[in-house]
Amino acid sequence: MIELTLGPHYGFSLLFLKFSKVYGPVFTLYFGTKPTVILHGYEAVKEALIDHGEEFAERGSFPVAEKINKDLGIVFSHGNRWKEIRRFTLTTLRNLGMGKRNIEDRVQEEARCLVEELRKTNGSPCDPTFILGCAPCNVICSIIFQNRFDYKDQDFLNLMEKLNENMKILSSPWTQFCSFFPVLIDYCPGSHTTLAKNVYHIRNYLLKKIKEHQESLDVTNPRDFIDYYLIKWKQENHNPHSEFTLENLSITVTDLFGAGTETTSTTLRYALLLLLKCPEVTAKVQEEIDRVVGKHRSPCMQDRSRMPYTDAMIHEVQRFIDLIPTNLPHAVTCDIKFRNYLIPKVIETHFHGSSDMQNRGDLECDSTCADSLHLHDKEHNFHCVCTVLDMTTFFIRENGCVQERA
Ligand code: HEM
Repeated sequence: MIELTLGPHYGFSLLFLKFSKVYGPVFTLYFGTKPTVILHGYEAVKEALIDHGEEFAERGSFPVAEKINKDLGIVFSHGNRWKEIRRFTLTTLRNLGMGKRNIEDRVQEEARCLVEELRKTNGSPCDPTFILGCAPCNVICSIIFQNRFDYKDQDFLNLMEKLNENMKILSSPWTQFCSFFPVLIDYCPGSHTTLAKNVYHIRNYLLKKIKEHQESLDVTNPRDFIDYYLIKWKQENHNPHSEFTLENLSITVTDLFGAGTETTSTTLRYALLLLLKCPEVTAKVQEEIDRVVGKHRSPCMQDRSRMPYTDAMIHEVQRFIDLIPTNLPHAVTCDIKFRNYLIPKVIETHFHGSSDMQNRGDLECDSTCADSLHLHDKEHNFHCVCTVLDMTTFFIRENGCVQERA
């Protein structure tokens, strides 16, 4: 029985590493009764995702979420429906990124509120988990509903509470177990029922917001994600097969909250912890911020190319925390011959992402480097131990995480 602990040096990650040493980078494991192909290591994952991106793009099954999402939304939908909603989401995020009040403005506004909130602690010891969760959630609120919320707003607190609880349930051993034996979902009580209740609560709230948007919609001046979707919905009104239904809107938006909040807040939380553990790295990051950004304005995307050390530090944090080591499950869209193995359409594929981040031939990395950030300086071209992280963490399911592609 596999130990279902998360993290780079436990559970699946360690297990996959051990198996790959014996069986090579492509092997099959049975999760419950389900045979699953594991692709381990940079070369195999790159070959699948880049050279055969289209074939490996299908979403594998995730029974607990499928029951709730009914093949709608963006994260757990399939085929043409997924393609259409994904295309629309990426275009809309790009449009919102370029408008009068663009996503960068929204992030800057939220960052100022976050700093203000942290300042209130007067440097005394505190647990920043809650506040670091609020900031990314609020940026997504601002993209979806146009406005951010006050951190004490009751609707906002309810939304956060349900999202947080669901993330815990989704990463629990019980949910993994239900994925292996889906029959349990229908016949056993357990936290999956709380998951469903929370999702319905979030969706009801979103439907209220959608109704408010319908009443104040100006098609010539879309304010946020919901407005763009409603315009598309109206345009497709005459198409009985349209994917753009109100139900799909509420599920897609719930997906965006689910996918974007915990990932970003965990990254921020661990970045803070690791910077505390590595004062020499913190000092260099601070020096670069002071030199490039200064003290009188907010950092912006244009600064990124002039801040190689900070950029490398953020990538290194992501490599280190190994947030989604097995990625979300994929499936192939057709039978495919891959490295002399035949992978049939019905078989699920897992990319062992952390393996790419930990080991790549030309980068100096010891995969057991577990207790500090490893930043190398080669003639001032700073890079973290694995610069392929962009590809492994985000660049998956043909084109991976939407925030990286938007
Ligand atoms: C540090 C932050 C983040 C990390 C590490 C991360 C990582 C990932 C990963 C590994 C996937 C799976 C890709 C695949 O299926 O192969 C994914 C998918 C996704 N992410 Fe992110 N993500 C982050 C932030 C965000 C944010 C801020 C948003 C939204 C605003 C977002 C929205 C999504 C969506 C919608 C998907 C599903 C894409 C699809 O199936 O087509 N993510 N993300």
